[in-house]
Amino acid sequence: MAVIAAFAGSAIGLGNIWRFPYLVGENGGAAFILLYIGFTLFLSLPIFLAESAIGRSQQVNCRAAVSFLVPGRAGKWFGFLLVLTPLWVVSYYSVVGGWSLDYLIRAVSLDFVRSTPEQLSGSFERFISHPWVPVLFHLGFLGATAAVVAFGVKSGIEKFCKWSIPTLFILIVLIAVYSLTLPGAGKGVEYLLKPDFSKVTAHTFIDALGQSFFSLSLGSGIVITYSSYVKKSENLMVAGVGTALSDLSFALLAGFSIIPAVFSAGIEPGAGPTLIFDTLPFIFSNLAQHAPILSALASILFFVAIFIAALTSSISLLEVGIAYLTEDKGFRRGWACVLLFVLCGAFGTLCSLSFGPLSQARLMGLSLFDFADSAASNVFMVLGSLISVILAGWVIPRSELFRELTNGGTQHANARLFPAVRFLIRYVAPLGILALILSSLI
Ligand code: TRP
Repeated sequence: MAVIAAFAGSAIGLGNIWRFPYLVGENGGAAFILLYIGFTLFLSLPIFLAESAIGRSQQVNCRAAVSFLVPGRAGKWFGFLLVLTPLWVVSYYSVVGGWSLDYLIRAVSLDFVRSTPEQLSGSFERFISHPWVPVLFHLGFLGATAAVVAFGVKSGIEKFCKWSIPTLFILIVLIAVYSLTLPGAGKGVEYLLKPDFSKVTAHTFIDALGQSFFSLSLGSGIVITYSSYVKKSENLMVAGVGTALSDLSFALLAGFSIIPAVFSAGIEPGAGPTLIFDTLPFIFSNLAQHAPILSALASILFFVAIFIAALTSSISLLEVGIAYLTEDKGFRRGWACVLLFVLCGAFGTLCSLSFGPLSQARLMGLSLFDFADSAASNVFMVLGSLISVILAGWVIPRSELFRELTNGGTQHANARLFPAVRFLIRYVAPLGILALILSSLI
């Protein structure tokens, strides 16, 4: 349970609550969800197992593991990519983490309960376009992450995950139930359940795959690094399936909490990264009109839980770079945290400013924030996952993969599934990823 909790702590985060609902809204609803579920079960889960087998068999940080498996220059660069991706992600992830910190403070000061939905509309826009306030929140969130990581893996991460994830699960179910009773919510439910395949393009596929990788923290050294800490007696397949199913169900619950409320509030579903931050105040201030105390309690608990969920994910993002700097470069843990705080803080500041003073800046036609996000999930993580499945399927000997995924054959159910899992890792995942890369290039 502790292993699943730590993996799920990395997997469940803003990716489920913030990113999934807005991508559903941008990509037309149910068809995107179906693709996302299919990718998660048939591509991402095998990739997760591939990465965890690599991590546990090598028992070192991801860069060292990869250069051990692929000697020479190429191995160094592959390993470096796996370290760089999470650091890249944590830079802009903590921008959104900062937004959730702001919302936590607003919930505690009863802002959502005291204001009407009309008064709240536009307030988020004013906040993120401010020249320095959101930057401060971003640095505050990143600083909190670095502080937890500085105290070490076991005492920091496990304690956080053990209670925050179950709390969040209960709250999101309650919010979904309430959201479904809002007037006009039926249109949102229809949007979530009735696929409209005419809206599906190559881009929908790429977004669904990228989201599936992002949400399970794949292709970025995290699963490899965490698995290097997992005991040989633990069952990696059970951990993988448990993590994927909890992550998937969490994303779906978030979709059912947010999208019906989006339709009820008359918000544009394709609004992009700001979607949930416009929708949640609407939900809570609506609830406050008939049940102010319940709304106050629910909003405070909810934003505390989101904040913790975001923090457990950002901890995992930072941990990869810390493992690299301390194990390979001889850094002390504290100094490694300071260094990465400065680097990621600076890059994240640019991403944060792209909602305000730098809103005109464009890279490949995208704002800095959107560029950072799509480069990570649609390029870096896709390449990282491809490297992982090739290593696990073609470089590591079959006997070693078998030993890790079945605990030396002692887990009989795993041993029976092993040929199918290896087939997915060896053929389906690499070919699927390649097909998607090609289609996106075309
Ligand atoms: N999976 C996390 C979420 O859904 C975010 C995350 C953690 C992540 N580690 C990652 C994303 C590694 C990409 C790569 O919020």
